[in-house]
Amino acid sequence: YKQYQKFKYFIHRVILFFSPGSSQIQLVGSADPVVALAGDDVILPCYLEPNVSAVDMMVEWTRSDLKTQRVHLYREGRDSNGEQLPSYRGRTTLFKEELKNSNVSLKLTGVTLSDAGDYKCFIPILTRETTIPLIVGAVSQPVISINGTKDWGVVLKCDTGGWYPQPELEWLDSHGNVLSATEPTETSNSTETEINPEGRYTVRRYVTIRNTDNNRFTCRVVQPQINQTRETQIHVPGEVFIG
Ligand SMILES: *[C@@H]1O[C@H](CO)[C@@H](O)[C@H](O)[C@H]1NC(C)=O
Repeated sequence: YKQYQKFKYFIHRVILFFSPGSSQIQLVGSADPVVALAGDDVILPCYLEPNVSAVDMMVEWTRSDLKTQRVHLYREGRDSNGEQLPSYRGRTTLFKEELKNSNVSLKLTGVTLSDAGDYKCFIPILTRETTIPLIVGAVSQPVISINGTKDWGVVLKCDTGGWYPQPELEWLDSHGNVLSATEPTETSNSTETEINPEGRYTVRRYVTIRNTDNNRFTCRVVQPQINQTRETQIHVPGEVFIG
């Protein structure tokens, strides 16, 4: 069977080489980076245009930004992942049913921050390649706590960890106004940022608030590069201000 596959592959190669249309074939990836969150499964798009079956072609996925780079190899009709980067073991698949429809996209499961990079989709027989950038972010829900009281107000703390890239954190009142240093309801306005060994950010911000009509405040964390926002609300009971 293996011999047969080899033979089939060889014949296919010869036919492709001499077929007049093959110089027009394009390999299409994605112009925009693919954005995923840590833990997601993601599809890195790559397909031949016009439609031509890739079942008998060699398809190589590599990381063009790394030295040792093999992410996935398909050849002679099956996966051949003996020399795959260990961090990708068991996490990559081609859509076998889609190969005949020219679709050689790669599915990557359980994305981690270190998967971020440039992925090259390469079909040697056509000498076509395309690079798909993958951006990986990480998010978490902010946590609000009452940190204490000051003579005229209450100090709230908003804490959020595990983010990547570094997010922006802001406090809002119930009307959606950002509580900045100029707001009369606030005196303390400091932001603390920490980064852990994995490269993830913790951001913390305090705000001092005055007893208002409804005492509802929102902590909003925004990361525009990965298009993510997380919010948490707090209602501070009026009694807290008395103490
Ligand atoms: C390739 O196949 C996968 C799985 O069916 C699908 O999600 C993806 O959209 C396909 N890509 C193209 C370009 O058709």
